[in-house]
Amino acid sequence: MHPFYYIAGIIAASITPGLAAPAVTIGVEARATSGCGKVHLLPGVTTYHGLASSGRDRTYSVHLPSGYDKSKPYPVVLGFHGSSSIGLFFEVDTKMSESRFSANKIMVYPNGVGGAWAGANYSQVSVDEDLQFVTDLLTELRGEYCVDDSRIYATGISNGGGFVNTIACSVVGGQFAAFAPASGAYYTDNFGVTGGCSPARSPLPVLEIHGGKDASVFYNGGEGEGGTEPPISTWLGWWAERNACTTSKVEDSFDGDVHHTIWTCAGGAEGVLQHWKVDDLGKLFFLLVVHKASAAIY
Ligand SMILES: *[C@@H]1O[C@H](CO)[C@@H](O)[C@H](O)[C@H]1NC(C)=O
Repeated sequence: MHPFYYIAGIIAASITPGLAAPAVTIGVEARATSGCGKVHLLPGVTTYHGLASSGRDRTYSVHLPSGYDKSKPYPVVLGFHGSSSIGLFFEVDTKMSESRFSANKIMVYPNGVGGAWAGANYSQVSVDEDLQFVTDLLTELRGEYCVDDSRIYATGISNGGGFVNTIACSVVGGQFAAFAPASGAYYTDNFGVTGGCSPARSPLPVLEIHGGKDASVFYNGGEGEGGTEPPISTWLGWWAERNACTTSKVEDSFDGDVHHTIWTCAGGAEGVLQHWKVDDLGKLFFLLVVHKASAAIY
């Protein structure tokens, strides 16, 4: 696993819960699902599960908080791994199952077919099939665990970050409170404001994290490993339009190396669109960035 993905995941893990706070969860009642009341014997231990979807056997792993209370509705975070990977690696690399990130969340790590998510030209399944898998997975999670249906989030890295955006751009995205792709490869969303993206509602909270020196998903877009990618600034502009954002501000830190852009969008919601750019985040500088980025977040 590329170290870049590791740090991006940490940032995603730490930001995802905060992302929803101002824009989504204030005044929103917890919506408990039918899985509330079911006993689970291994809280705090990651368990592996199968699910039939579109005639295919799909898999995912689940990590319940060690203090899991069967009658308390928990937020759910789906974490989508990068290409040539699996959910268990994503879990270990990002440390998202550690209690400092998810003491009060149900973490779920789905597995792509052949180690990849739809949208890349090397993917083995269609976008429709992977979106159906997400729908089927959420249905299963609601029936099995005590889920707060108003607090379902998605984060992911690289190919998985791109797929998080594919979800956000689809009708399936309406089931989520917020999205936090990290170093996403936006193959399916490279066609303007509406060309490849039809969000289920507006505004839809999105937070993106990207390294200025990302050597595989270029900040300035172009030909990526699995297709053509938009420049990140262009792509952010599309989301600003989709979310009817009116103003934005940039907060620089670490001698101008880290840039946090915060948009104010429809209805005056501040932070419903956010972006973290770490200029020197790339292969050669990752250790420096570990310090800079983590210090910037915590
Ligand atoms: C995938 O897209 C990239 C970028 O356009 C291209 O270089 C590569 O040859 C494509 N691969 C396949 C299998 O189509």
